[in-house]
Amino acid sequence: MKIALISGSHRPTGNSGRIAKHIEAQLQGQGHSTYLLDLATTELPFWDEGLWGMEGLSAKWEKVWNPIKSELDSADAYIVIAPEYHGMAPSKLTNFFLLLGNGDTVAHKPALLVTVSAGVSGVYPVSELRSYSFKNNRMVYLPEHLIIRNASEIFIDNVKPEHQATHDYLVERLEWQLRMLADYAEGLKAIRAKGNTKVPSPKFANGM
Ligand SMILES: Cc1cc2nc3c(=O)[nH]c(=O)nc-3n(C[C@H](O)[C@H](O)[C@H](O)COP(=O)(O)O)c2cc1C
Repeated sequence: MKIALISGSHRPTGNSGRIAKHIEAQLQGQGHSTYLLDLATTELPFWDEGLWGMEGLSAKWEKVWNPIKSELDSADAYIVIAPEYHGMAPSKLTNFFLLLGNGDTVAHKPALLVTVSAGVSGVYPVSELRSYSFKNNRMVYLPEHLIIRNASEIFIDNVKPEHQATHDYLVERLEWQLRMLADYAEGLKAIRAKGNTKVPSPKFANGM
């Protein structure tokens, strides 16, 4: 199974990127292949009409987006790692969803949502992304998600005693969620093979 991780932080030294690498190593330990898209270290322009073929704007997308898209196309499942920035998912992550557009790259494939807060929040990006980020790309969020609070203290080598119980709880919960994600990936692969997930008419290209 190939699982792609998308880390939405703007900060190359942020917790989200570190946590993404931790999850990636765990997935590899479970025998999966992985692809990590770290938006903090990947130069992706803001969406423009070049993605719709506008002359003068489209050439750059072939270079910067097509190789990423091809990695995402071949993934069976996704992990979206979203830090909370002023109560919102960061704009690099919103831009990523704009780039996905209404194509079928992630359509009817499962995604685990992991949100990251240095404090005690982390719930707002869950609500935000679950509310509408799937509409036109038709990604399927698992009913389970992971909220990592006090993120600087979790998934590190020397966990402080006051964070040990939370760390252990999240390690165990994540391990369960990753196994669940792989099962959903198998299940949804079988559903896609039936053909009814294909958009039957340009009238339905976008979700309602
Ligand atoms: C611009 C900005 C706004 C932030 N706003 C919030 C917030 O509203 N709630 C919160 O819990 N943490 C907030 N944080 C802290 C992040 O939760 C913290 O940086 C965490 O480690 C996840 O982001 P990172 O992956 O960029 O490190 C904010 C951080 C930045 C850079």
